[in-house]
Amino acid sequence: MMLKIGVLASGAGTNLQALLDASREGRIAAEVAVVICNVAGAGALDRAREAGVPSVCMEHGHYDDRASFDADLVNALRAHRVDLVCLAGFMRLLSPQFVDAFRGRILNIHPSLLPAFPGLHAQRQALAAGVKITGCTVHLVDEGLDAGPIVAQAAVPVHEGDTEETLAARIREQEHPLYVHAVGLFARGLVLQGRRVLTPG
Ligand code: GRF
Repeated sequence: MMLKIGVLASGAGTNLQALLDASREGRIAAEVAVVICNVAGAGALDRAREAGVPSVCMEHGHYDDRASFDADLVNALRAHRVDLVCLAGFMRLLSPQFVDAFRGRILNIHPSLLPAFPGLHAQRQALAAGVKITGCTVHLVDEGLDAGPIVAQAAVPVHEGDTEETLAARIREQEHPLYVHAVGLFARGLVLQGRRVLTPG
């Protein structure tokens, strides 16, 4: 069965692109059914259009509160019969109501080896901490910030001359194949054992 993915993005959408490409090339048994973006003019919307995938722009500033924004998000995802929600640079916290509506079916990608450096500016945090290895993580989303069970990780070396930008670029190269890999694992079925994600398929 073809898994239907809803991608939520706020920015350039390079992770979205990786999922679109993998789907088009048959590398994952999944298709992007809808792209939802909370920032007008974001690159992610162009990428959706280019790929011929429906997109929705929902500017959060037009909503009274998080509850009504999240309720609309849930409605849009349900209208497109989404099985899996992929957060790909979506710069909004999701309410417990949203998490509950798609419990166990939301993935996020974060540019650090969680649980190190959650939250904003993960690359800056890694440089400030002086770690020699950082990376990226795909995890299931729960109510916490970058806190849910880990599905897949990739390690990335920190170089002495790194700036936030050079490190972010090196991490991003690993994010794209990692996200595709994680969606493939999800499509084959994940099993939770406490905080451990097992991939029996
Ligand atoms: C990535 O670094 C991702 O890890 C973080 O936001 C960034 C999104 O980049 N959550 P893009 O929009 O997919 O290019």
